[in-house]
Amino acid sequence: MDPSYQLLADKLHRQIDARTYLPGDRLPSVRELAKDHGFSLETVLHAFRLLENKGIVEARVRSGFYVREPKLRLVAAPTKTQTIFRAKDVAVSALRHQTVTFGTSKQVVPLGLSLLGSEVLPARKLAQTAASAARRYPVETCNQGPPAGIEPLRQQLAQRANGWGCFLSPDDFVITCGASEALHLALRAVSQPGDIILVESPTYFGVLEIIQGLGLRVVELATDPVQGIDLADLENALKRFPRVAACLLVTNCSNPLGYSLSTKTKQDLVRLVTRFGVPLIEDDIFGDLHRPETERPKVAKTFDPDGSVILIGSFSKTLAPGLRVGWIVPGKFHDRVLELKSATSLATPTLPQLTVAEFLKFGSFDAHLRRLRKFLAEQVYRFSSAVAENFPLSTRISRPSGGFILWIELEEDFDALQLAADALNKYRIAVAPGNIFSATGERYRNCFRISCGHAFSPRFSEAIQTIGRLAAGSGATKRIANSR
Ligand SMILES: Cc1ncc(COP(=O)(O)O)c(C=O)c1O
Repeated sequence: MDPSYQLLADKLHRQIDARTYLPGDRLPSVRELAKDHGFSLETVLHAFRLLENKGIVEARVRSGFYVREPKLRLVAAPTKTQTIFRAKDVAVSALRHQTVTFGTSKQVVPLGLSLLGSEVLPARKLAQTAASAARRYPVETCNQGPPAGIEPLRQQLAQRANGWGCFLSPDDFVITCGASEALHLALRAVSQPGDIILVESPTYFGVLEIIQGLGLRVVELATDPVQGIDLADLENALKRFPRVAACLLVTNCSNPLGYSLSTKTKQDLVRLVTRFGVPLIEDDIFGDLHRPETERPKVAKTFDPDGSVILIGSFSKTLAPGLRVGWIVPGKFHDRVLELKSATSLATPTLPQLTVAEFLKFGSFDAHLRRLRKFLAEQVYRFSSAVAENFPLSTRISRPSGGFILWIELEEDFDALQLAADALNKYRIAVAPGNIFSATGERYRNCFRISCGHAFSPRFSEAIQTIGRLAAGSGATKRIANSR
C-alpha cells in the first residue's frame, strides 16, 4: 500500500492534469489539506515535495504552493544515485583545490562555492558588534580562551538547540574553527586509519578531503535528491563491512543534492546505526536555511539514545564564513574531541566567538535568518528558471529543500568537467564539476553544482546563458528554449 503522502501527491497530480488547478493557480494550503484529509502537516508537505520534485508545483515564499508553468514543469530532478558496495580510498584531485581557490577570486563569476553574496551578509552590523565586543572585553579578546569555547556562545547555542528538537546544555558544545574543523575532530575521534566512513553520494568535497587526509576509506551510499539516503542500502553496508567507523550525513538541505531527511527517516536512521553500534556524524550546517514556508527541520540528534550522534554546525552559511565559527556536540565522544581540539588548535579565536555570541543575543539573528531564507528561496527559483531556459531539454535540476545550491545533471555521456574547465578558462565563470563530489573523481562527470547565494543579476544571467551554450554546444541535445 502506498504511503499517505504518495496517495495525496497522486490525487493533487490528477487534479492538475484534469485542469482543476491551472498553471499559476495557488493550491490549497498545507493546513487546509492536512485538516481535510486528517494528515499531519509533515505528510502534506512531503506530498508537495514529491510534486515539486517532479516539477509540477513550486513553493512561493510566504504564499504556499502553486501549479508550475509548463516550461519549468518539464525539468526533471536528478536521478537517484547508486550504492557502490566497495570500500574506496579517496583520491583528491587538483580540481577540488582549483574549485576552492578560484571560487573566492573576485575575477570570476562565483557559481562554484557555496558562499553567500556580500549583499546578504550582515557585514556592517557584525563589524559594529565586533568593535564593541573588542572594546568591552579587551583582555578576553587578547587572551586564549578555553578549548571548549567561550561560555556565552555555548549558552546561546544551547538555547537555539531547542529549535532543532534537542535539549542540550552549554557543556555539550565545543566551539570550532568552522564546521570543517568540527568534521575533522569528529572523524578523528571515532576512527583509525583504514576504517570506513559511510557517506551519501554525491558527497560534499570538503568531507572527502578530510577523509583522505586521515587515511580513511568510504562507501558511497545511494542517495535520492528528495528522499536522501537509502536506509536499506545503509543496513546492507553496515552488515557487509566490519570496519565501519561512522556514517556521515548532511541531514538537512544537503550539499549538493538539497534533500532533507524526513523526521521519520531520521528516527529510523538513528535506530539503525545505534543497533550496529556505529556513530552518526550529522552535519547540520544548512539546517537554519530551510524553505521559508516550512518549519525548521529537526536534527537526527533529537533521537539520539546514548550520545552516539555527533552534531555539527557553523555560522558560515548564515552569518559570515570569514569568522570561522562552528561547533560540535560530540555526545559520548566529548572528552576525546576536547582533547583533540586542544591538541589541534588550542582554542578557537576569541573575538569571532564574542562577536557571534553578542550577535545572537542582541543582533536579531532570527530576523536576519527570516530575511535570508526568503532571499535564498527567491534566488534558487531565479537561478533554476535561468538554467531551465538556457540548457538542453534533457537537463535535470535539483529542487533543494533549503540552502542555496543546485545540482545539475546533463546527459550521461556529457563531459561536465570539460564544461567547468571551459567556463573558467574562457569565460571566467566558476562552477563546481560533479566528479569532485565522488571518492575517486570518476562519478558524476555529467553533473555540476552551482551556488545561488548571490542576488540574481544580469552578470549571473549572462553566465548561465554562457554555460547553457557550452552545454548545448557539445551536441548533447536541443536547447529547451528553441524546442518550446
Ligand atoms: C556540508 C558542508 N559542511 C561543512 C562545510 C564547511 O563549513 P565551514 O565553512 O564552517 O568550515 C561546508 C562548506 O561549504 C559544507 O557545505
